[in-house]
Amino acid sequence: MAEIRIRNTNERISGEENVKAFLDRQEVLYEHWNPDKLPAELQNKFVLTDDEKNKILETFDAEIRDLAKRRGYKTWDIVALSDATPNLEELLKKFEQVHTHTEDEVRAITAGKGIFVIKGSDDVGYFDVELEAGDVISVPENKPHFFTLMENRQIVAVRLFIETEGWIAHPFDDPAFQKA
Ligand SMILES: [Fe+2]
Repeated sequence: MAEIRIRNTNERISGEENVKAFLDRQEVLYEHWNPDKLPAELQNKFVLTDDEKNKILETFDAEIRDLAKRRGYKTWDIVALSDATPNLEELLKKFEQVHTHTEDEVRAITAGKGIFVIKGSDDVGYFDVELEAGDVISVPENKPHFFTLMENRQIVAVRLFIETEGWIAHPFDDPAFQKA
């Protein structure tokens, strides 16, 4: 289940209802899928063949289509990152810059963990959403954010798009943002 850390105060928010209520106020969509639907051998695998990626998409087909129907996504795919990913360090450096998109950024985590760092309302400031398998999040369009891995450095997620071009990152240079 996702947990929140508010960066300015180090306050943590946990428990599905509390997390959902907080993210609702920040206009961030949060839902949950059952990660145990995935065959056991795929629940802890981070280097995937095309067949395995298709198996994950098949497993969550009903959930994906339901989300797509409600929110207008037209295409989806699987992204997998781990220490086996070529140039992972460089990729993470690129990821870890605050940016915006002209469409929302949706991720459904199917294995591993990851963090979205998001610029919240003025009274909250930046907060981390720590995600694990089963967590589904959508960062609204034009909301400054970035994504990074957690200490296990492994994740598999479904990405959904309205238009893939809408997902281009626009840097958001914010002097108020502090890394740690
Ligand atoms: Fe992004």
